[in-house]
Amino acid sequence: MIIANWKANGNEIINNSWCNTFSSLVDNEFYKFVGIAPSSLHFHQIKNFFEQTSIQVGFQDIDIDGGARTGSISASMASNDGCAFSLAGHSERREIFKDDNALIKEKIEKILDHEMTAVFCVGESFEDYQSENTKDVLKLQILESLPSSLKTNNLIIAYEPVWAIGSGRTPNAKEVNSIHEFIKDVVQSATANNIEPKVLYGGSVNQANASDFFNEKFVDGALIGGASLDANVFADILDIYRRLKEK
Ligand code: PGA
Repeated sequence: MIIANWKANGNEIINNSWCNTFSSLVDNEFYKFVGIAPSSLHFHQIKNFFEQTSIQVGFQDIDIDGGARTGSISASMASNDGCAFSLAGHSERREIFKDDNALIKEKIEKILDHEMTAVFCVGESFEDYQSENTKDVLKLQILESLPSSLKTNNLIIAYEPVWAIGSGRTPNAKEVNSIHEFIKDVVQSATANNIEPKVLYGGSVNQANASDFFNEKFVDGALIGGASLDANVFADILDIYRRLKEK
């Protein structure tokens, strides 16, 4: 699966041109590998454009409750309006909005309770990477945020080293592969029915490096920020994914 994370980008005109370009480049049969997380303001625009297709349209974040919570969108609102998935724990949410592991756990629970897929983001800082603490950091993030009675396969993990996001720097593909294997093991042994989640890589994925990642066994796809804003580039990455992963 390839998921576009548009963050706080886009407007109706730009989005419309993105959708037209993307649909002119990509055959319908490959839409099933694609998720798009536009801003929640533009969720319906994108959802309506791809209404008759298998593209999944989701949220970048949801709140844990509805009602008197000014500025929020609850999981139940998202789900009632046809949201297929939501990210939880993106590093920008952790850093700017102070989402901690406990809150992220509640968000994941709400997403799953409302029958959407949770795309749970984890990742280490550059200091942790340099001091070889990556696995400890990831394990803690996972164990503190994984719902204890997780029984569903509607969970995707996105491994996004914080220092690789939007920076043009990435770990090498072999390192990513072994981290993904580790993440699968941690989730498997922490869940009652040994769930083996799909693990996406995120952080400066582009057309030039995508094949390195998709050639690795435990890399199940990508969560893509900057490079997803250009429909041509995103279509190219999808093409690489399809050739290497869904052959
Ligand atoms: P990037 O962002 O592809 O621009 O590095 C990835 C993300 O933040 O999900």
